[in-house]
Amino acid sequence: MDSIAILDFGSQYAQIIARRVREAQVYCELFPWDASREKILSIRPKGFILSGGPRSVYELDAPYIQDFILKSGLPILGICYGMQALTHALGGQVDPSAHREYGPAVIEPLARGTMLDSLSKVWMSHGDRITRMPEGFVALARSGSSPYAAMGDMKRKYFGVQFHPEVHHTPNGSVLLRHFAQDICGAKPEWTPASIIDASVERIRAQVGDGRVLAAVSGGVDSSVAAALVHKAIGDQLLAVFVDTGLLRKGESEQVVSAFRENLHAELIAVEASDEFLEALKGVTEPEQKRRIVGEKFIRVFEAQAQVAGEPHFLVQGTIYPDVVESSAPDRNKAEKIKTHHNVGGLPDDMQFELVEPLRYLFKDEVRSVGEALGLPEALVWRQPFPGPGLTVRCLGEVTRERAARLRAADAILIEELSRAGYLGKPDPASAEIQHVSQAFVVLLPVRSVGVMGDQRTYQEAAAIRAVTTEDFMTADWARLPHDLLARVANRIVNEVDGINRVVYDITSKPPATIEWE
Ligand code: XMP
Repeated sequence: MDSIAILDFGSQYAQIIARRVREAQVYCELFPWDASREKILSIRPKGFILSGGPRSVYELDAPYIQDFILKSGLPILGICYGMQALTHALGGQVDPSAHREYGPAVIEPLARGTMLDSLSKVWMSHGDRITRMPEGFVALARSGSSPYAAMGDMKRKYFGVQFHPEVHHTPNGSVLLRHFAQDICGAKPEWTPASIIDASVERIRAQVGDGRVLAAVSGGVDSSVAAALVHKAIGDQLLAVFVDTGLLRKGESEQVVSAFRENLHAELIAVEASDEFLEALKGVTEPEQKRRIVGEKFIRVFEAQAQVAGEPHFLVQGTIYPDVVESSAPDRNKAEKIKTHHNVGGLPDDMQFELVEPLRYLFKDEVRSVGEALGLPEALVWRQPFPGPGLTVRCLGEVTRERAARLRAADAILIEELSRAGYLGKPDPASAEIQHVSQAFVVLLPVRSVGVMGDQRTYQEAAAIRAVTTEDFMTADWARLPHDLLARVANRIVNEVDGINRVVYDITSKPPATIEWE
């Protein structure tokens, strides 16, 4: 398949560039700027995109464009730092701007019939700028403080843009990226759900042959789509195991079981293990300890199933592309550990499996399209993320069966109201004015307060509503939900759920708070 290689110079937007190119149905992969020649050329790219980055080309040890890229004869598009690195490498001049340009800007095209035709408003974020273009280049656009907001060398098919076409603050920026990938590089738009499925099926068959494969299905989108793909490839060689921890949301376990058995006609073993999980959590209130207990318990339950199944050689993992990229990106591995993210359904340390990772090259939106194309129900495919430790991390204090049930009931009301109002689930293009909520849930607090219901004094627990909007879950903002909607949810929770007499709305962003409360 035709492809584009994107070189990451440390930009916070590198993954977004890749998503935009994929949206143009052209396959692309991200590589650290200094990845080896063999690695980068292994995808046989038809062109290169150089991302932005925080450095200055004149700094000691500044990232640079490797020689083989310039010698390849293939088209290059440099974005922000990528443009500066290209200029520097080809003998032009880069200098600090008198004014840092950050935020919205307007560019004025200087030529017609270029990739900039549909652009005017753009997003800038740079300190340095080009003051002399390398030989062979012409200016394609200028902005208030950049005489060369875009430049191109038509002969070599080298282009540079000072702004960020990948971010949504640059309307029509994706047109530029599509134009570069499809028209300038000549990459065919072949990356579609159907072709992704065909390629994955082939790869899975080649990897596992006639071996048996085990999959842990958690009810989340990734593990379900991964298992569905493997099932499509090898049918009954797959054994899917679903562990009902008793810490799932309302209706979740029924939905997973029916999706696999009825939609996919796949073998799925559902293990009801809520007693074991709740027993292990008895008396425990410390968040990290709760997470550890659920993670370990899951492994033990899963291990027992693997033994019954005769210890298959392969295990399916729902690792997706952002996880792969994050773990190899420059300077991004040192993030402080805030919470133990038990990858429930992950590989137990002491079990010997070969991993099958069919989503390793897919972004979340691609996982969803593939899931739909495979016939998984919309409700499952468009479900919001749910943490591995489940309701444990939302049931503050001790998790008992009664408190988990209380939380589940309140959460179901929130989800029902938000879905009905169009804030959750598959986004509807007809209601674009609604800002979709990325994740919403109820947290049960181990705090009691006094209330009055039907002239009776109550002394019951409080629930918090958490609803956030986010692009990547690394940072998030609280959703500005309409007051009437919040009022309806609060009213219903207090009226319909025993044991809750007060509802509050969480209005902290991440950072400083996290999305989950534990
Ligand atoms: P935080 O609370 O760290 O959450 O802001 C960021 C995102 O990660 C999800 N999350 C988890 N996912 N295992 C998971 O698979 C976990 O242990 C876990 N803890 C948090 C959280 O729901 C949010 O989407």
